[in-house]
Amino acid sequence: MPSITISKRSYFYQDCGEGLPFLLFHGFPFSSESFWPQLEKPPVGVRLLMPDHRGFGQSSLGNDSTTTMEDMAEDGLALLDALSLPTAIVGGLSMGGYVAIALTRLNPGRVRGLCLIDTQSLPDNDETRLKRETAAQDAEQHGVDGLVDSMLPRLMSKSASPQVKERVKKMMRSQPKGAVAAASRGMATRLDGKDILSRFFGPCTIVVGEEDAITPVEKAKVMHELVKGSTLDVIAHAGHLSNLEQPEAFGKSVERLITACR
Ligand code: MLT
Repeated sequence: MPSITISKRSYFYQDCGEGLPFLLFHGFPFSSESFWPQLEKPPVGVRLLMPDHRGFGQSSLGNDSTTTMEDMAEDGLALLDALSLPTAIVGGLSMGGYVAIALTRLNPGRVRGLCLIDTQSLPDNDETRLKRETAAQDAEQHGVDGLVDSMLPRLMSKSASPQVKERVKKMMRSQPKGAVAAASRGMATRLDGKDILSRFFGPCTIVVGEEDAITPVEKAKVMHELVKGSTLDVIAHAGHLSNLEQPEAFGKSVERLITACR
C-alpha cells in the first residue's frame, strides 16, 4: 500500500483502477479495507484513491486528541497535491461523507463531483455530542470492543452474509483506540453541511442502503433536496454499509456519477 508523509505522519492509501480520480473516504471506525469489493473490482472509468484516516488502518495518528473532519479533509487534499491531481470526484461513507463535505467547504474548486454514501449533512445535537465524548473516554480506558459491539447490530441489513459481518467486526476491532477516540471527538465538532451542499452545483450522487439504521433514507433525502440536480440512489437489501452488502448496485451508482463528471 503506498503512502505519503504529512507533517512527519505516514498517510497510507489504496490506489486502484483507471480513469477519473475519485478520492473516497472511509467511515468510523473502519479503514480503507472497508472498500474491499471496490478494491477487488473497481467501478469502470475511475481511479480510486482510498486513504486510511489519521490513526486508522496503517496511517499514523499524530499528537492531537481530536481529529476533526477538516483535519481528515486536509490530509485528502495533501494526497491530491502529492499526486499532482488538481481535481477529483470526492466521496465518503458515513464519517467519510462528513469529511467529503468538509473538503468541499475547504476547497470547492478541487471537487469535480460529490458522492455522499450512507451519510448526512446534519451536525450532532447535544445528546449525541455527549455520547461521542463518553465513547471516546470508554475507548481510551477499555479499548474499542464495547463501541464495536454496540454499533454492529445496527450496521448491516438482515440479509448481510455472516462472512461480511465477521470481516467487518474484525476490521473494526483492529482499529487503534487513540484514533477511534480522536475521531469520535472530531465528529462531535462537525459543522452543518447545509450551506456547502446548497452551494454545490457539480454532479452529485447520494447513495443510501434502504435499511440503513444509522443514517436512514430520510437523511439522504435532506441532502438530495439541498444539492440541486443531485441523484438519489436507494440500494435495496443494504444497511449502512451499502458498498459491502450490494457492491454491484453501488458500482453502478458510481459509474453513473463518473459519466456525469466527464
Ligand atoms: C460511521 O459509520 O462513519 C459512523 O457511524 C458515523 C457516525 O457515527 O455519525
